[in-house]
Amino acid sequence: MFAKIIDGKAIAKQVRQEVAERVQRRIQCGKRVPALAVILLGSNPVSKIYVTNKCHACEEVGFLSYSYFLPITTSETQILSLIKELNDNKDIDGILIQLPLPPSINTLHVIQAVSPLKDVDGFHPYNVGRLCTRSPAMLRPCTPLGIITLLDRCNIDLCSLHAVVVGASNIVGRPMSMELLLAGCTTTVTHRFTKNLYRYVKDADLLIVAVGKPHFISGQWIKSGAIVIDVGINRLKNGNIVGDVDFEEASKIAGWITPVPGGVGPMTVAILIQNTLNICEMNDKIV
Ligand code: GUN
Repeated sequence: MFAKIIDGKAIAKQVRQEVAERVQRRIQCGKRVPALAVILLGSNPVSKIYVTNKCHACEEVGFLSYSYFLPITTSETQILSLIKELNDNKDIDGILIQLPLPPSINTLHVIQAVSPLKDVDGFHPYNVGRLCTRSPAMLRPCTPLGIITLLDRCNIDLCSLHAVVVGASNIVGRPMSMELLLAGCTTTVTHRFTKNLYRYVKDADLLIVAVGKPHFISGQWIKSGAIVIDVGINRLKNGNIVGDVDFEEASKIAGWITPVPGGVGPMTVAILIQNTLNICEMNDKIV
């Protein structure tokens, strides 16, 4: 038996089309188009590709986008002052600072400087707190919400599943665990200090892997019929892109699986766009 493929590319396209239609309706009503500001510090080639993709996606759905490519020598004071300017600018809805930042910059200071109302990434402690406490959740981190959207659009019911998250990063693993709790899963978070990882993986009805190591999860570890979500995007020396899960083996055992590329990756950008439009619509009500 082969797993059903969760087509992230197609579902992300649907989400972007829905956003584009909402933008067209705004324009017809004479409303302002949404605007996203994206900041990149330094010249990490992978981050540069991500930022360029995000700006293209904005333009595709009819948003304005402003990109700030800052030199690696930019000081924390300079970046904080740019963020303040963008916070105060009523024409900007969302602010995104591409991570990781260089070690000279305190990432938490930068994340906390972004207004929680413009925090498209949902990384500000205010938004993380709302997600954790169901206050209710307001701006939710893009990759975890993208995964929930994928599962929802495949009509996969998450309630009561044992979900196992591999990796406890602030960007994916931690907010993912909160999304899974919200969805009614019994959730286990594993990380670099977890002993005998395969024991947890073997018991997962829903497995979400975000560690950034090619083929870290062996196909043999997967429970028969499990839903497998692979967040990893790893470039091999031969140029091929592979995930954190051994797809070839896992797809023979799982019930559902995301491919890499074309699984979770496109959803992160689609949800970023959706978050930006949601902020813009919240701003309509404030103004
Ligand atoms: N770096 C890797 N993933 C992300 C993300 O979702 N948002 C930002 N800002 N930086 C990232």
